[in-house]
Amino acid sequence: MSDNLKILFAQDDIDQAILRLAGSIRRDFGQEEIVFVCVLKGSFVFTADLIREVATPSVVDFIRISSYRNGMIHGNVAITKDLEMDIEGKNVIIVEDIIDSGITLTSLRDMLLTRKPKALKICALIDKKARREVQIEGDYIGFSIEDGFVVGYGIDYAEKYRNLRDIFVIEGAK
Ligand code: IMP
Ligand code: MG
Repeated sequence: MSDNLKILFAQDDIDQAILRLAGSIRRDFGQEEIVFVCVLKGSFVFTADLIREVATPSVVDFIRISSYRNGMIHGNVAITKDLEMDIEGKNVIIVEDIIDSGITLTSLRDMLLTRKPKALKICALIDKKARREVQIEGDYIGFSIEDGFVVGYGIDYAEKYRNLRDIFVIEGAK
């Protein structure tokens, strides 16, 4: 059965959002170096566009995490591929695709804070505020949406749709 995709944000909307996010990041950090932490896999396309728009001295590293869910109970969030860089004393921006319940990002933030960065900010392409189960706010947000399962522009459903240029919502999904 094929999924029913409805366009939510087109390439132009995404470009505008990235211009705005990059502007805010530049305003906050000036010429200070930033370590962009791309959270694999969902934010690889977003990170690629964002770092080119920010264009101040920056470096990029990658991390992969998995969260285990036991029915309705959230389990541990584990790092399955760690950063290669030492972030102590650095300005770090976590680049995430989506904040949903907030559980993944809360754990990731807490794990990275133990490494004593100078600053630690969160940049998320999509914020689903209404679905939050733990209190966490992004510092830089591309789009806020109420609900819906989204795909495209790096974001997947069962590994599909990452290569679409636009962002879609899957109609009829939870
Ligand atoms: P959280 O821990 O509930 O905030 O989960 C966030 C993670 O769940 C995101 O990084 C995504 O990988 C995934 N996720 C949440 N909502 C969606 C969606 O609508 N489409 C694809 N992945 C999603
Ligand atoms: Mg993710």
